[in-house]
Amino acid sequence: MTILVTGATGNVGRHVVRGLAEAGARVRAMTRDPAAAVFGEGVEVARGDLGAPDDIPFDGVEKLFLFVPSPDVRDVVDVAAKAGVRRIVVLSSGAVTHGYDTTYHLPVEQAVEASGVEWTHVRPGEFATNKIDLWGPSIRADGTIVHPEPDEYGQPIHERDIAEVAVAALLQDGHAGRAYTLTGPAQLTQRAMAADIGAAIGRELTFTTVSRQEALEYYVSVGWPEESARYLVGLGGYEGAEADDFSDYQFTVSPDFEAVTGRPYRTFARWALDHAADFTPAS
Ligand SMILES: NC(=O)c1ccc[n+]([C@@H]2O[C@H](COP(=O)([O-])OP(=O)(O)OC[C@H]3O[C@@H](n4cnc5c(N)ncnc54)[C@H](OP(=O)(O)O)[C@@H]3O)[C@@H](O)[C@H]2O)c1
Repeated sequence: MTILVTGATGNVGRHVVRGLAEAGARVRAMTRDPAAAVFGEGVEVARGDLGAPDDIPFDGVEKLFLFVPSPDVRDVVDVAAKAGVRRIVVLSSGAVTHGYDTTYHLPVEQAVEASGVEWTHVRPGEFATNKIDLWGPSIRADGTIVHPEPDEYGQPIHERDIAEVAVAALLQDGHAGRAYTLTGPAQLTQRAMAADIGAAIGRELTFTTVSRQEALEYYVSVGWPEESARYLVGLGGYEGAEADDFSDYQFTVSPDFEAVTGRPYRTFARWALDHAADFTPAS
């Protein structure tokens, strides 16, 4: 019985691979570039591209961790079910729970539900790893952070918490037909996040406060996709929504993570310690 992990070299997927392997499961890690991928002992590495469903290595695969790079991944679901996959765990988004995402992850969730396989949707909110792309270059360069509203709240989640729920849904029974919303721990301000990263790297960080438009331009310049960047800086963007559509957003801590894992979310301070190297200049 093999579990195929797609997006296996990614922020979440690499921890799903590791968690499954540590539990003794037979894991096949899929990547478009096996030569560049590094996985632990006992992990089978296979070439595959979610954009070419017919070539995905589904032989002997019973369960699938499905990364969603675009809504076109719907096509993969059909091929997987026909190939004998019995369970699919989708890396979806909390935006589905809140009704902001009806055209990206939602259609993939719906395709999985319609396919007849056992399914679990894992719906995380804001990844803490976003800070590596958005804040990393300037922190590494000169200890500054480009942000429009340092006192604005966010609720980042550790990627290992997301992976742990996915691993539970893949390995254990009792998660079929469930959609788990993973909010991350209690909200905190951008300043508090900066303080946690500063403490992790032993450096005092300062904010360069810019307009939302300037923040958008900066985030795009460091490689963030424009639509996601618009959403992150509060300029709307998710499916054309306007910033006002999110102004009544209420931060809560979803109980789903603790219900599945039996413990609270990792803190942002923990995440910052785990990623200190990402905010430290190369020597
Ligand atoms: N960032 C957030 O705040 C946030 C919040 C909620 C939900 N999400 C969702 O979470 C997912 C991102 O997860 P992540 O950060 O773990 O991903 P990631 O780090 O961006 O990595 C995904 C991996 O998937 C592979 N990949 C990318 N495009 C592919 C394609 N077209 N076909 C096959 N493989 C492809 C790449 O591996 P190879 O190059 O090795 O093939 C890449 O390493 C997205 O669906 C996103 O919408 C993100």
